[in-house]
Amino acid sequence: MNEKHGGSSGRRMGTESLLSEIAAEVRACTRCPLATGRTMAVPGEGNELTDVLMVGEGPGGREDATGRPFVGPAGQLLTELIRSIGWERRDVFITNVVKCRPPGNRDPQPDEIAACGAYLDRQERALDPAVVVTLGRYSLQRYLPGARIGATHGQLRRSGGRFVFPMYHPAAALHQSSLRETLFRDIRELPAALLAARQAIEEEHAAPLSVAGDGAEASVAGASADAADSLRSGANDDHQLTLF
Ligand code: URA
Ligand code: SF4
Repeated sequence: MNEKHGGSSGRRMGTESLLSEIAAEVRACTRCPLATGRTMAVPGEGNELTDVLMVGEGPGGREDATGRPFVGPAGQLLTELIRSIGWERRDVFITNVVKCRPPGNRDPQPDEIAACGAYLDRQERALDPAVVVTLGRYSLQRYLPGARIGATHGQLRRSGGRFVFPMYHPAAALHQSSLRETLFRDIRELPAALLAARQAIEEEHAAPLSVAGDGAEASVAGASADAADSLRSGANDDHQLTLF
């Protein structure tokens, strides 16, 4: 999990070619019934060096037409959210739980999510992000099965070896305007969550025997508080926080 944080250029090259290999397979994929209804598959896009992976639900109409993730109305809001903390879309990597549009924008079905999961697994392994931002409930269920969005949004959580930062789906805020404010409030916590996750990862890297059990949870909470403090004291201006 931590090799990237040692920063080898060989690994960077590896990530880029792995991601394009996965994208090529996705574009040709017929592993689930969504293949028949799509115009274009949407593998995902972003920076191969990033520490932040954002995972939505599945392509909508505009995504299906262009082959790019989050370029419709929900995407516009996601772009605004990312910019509101001084980041850009090109600083993160954006993808979805399913890579092809469900007909009529219906919810993706369990067999489709399962079939497509292998691509997301591989993208995740290639990027090895410090934080996965889940957008909406399908993405949340993948990383934190059984978790409720109302109880977890805007908080750094741990899922196996990954740090997860659950957020509401931007499309939900298009229908329910009170969620818009919640989304902007939650994403303001993301830079501190990223620092906290990185700190915990470094600590575990340095002391791999202390990873197991409750100790890991405690160290996340502690690191989060430290990171939040340093942000507040101005030690880390949002704009200066490197994402790579
Ligand atoms: N909604 C999603 O979940 N993903 C997209 O790419 C676009 C809209
Ligand atoms: Fe393949 Fe995923 Fe598209 Fe299904 S949704 S056809 S598994 S790429």
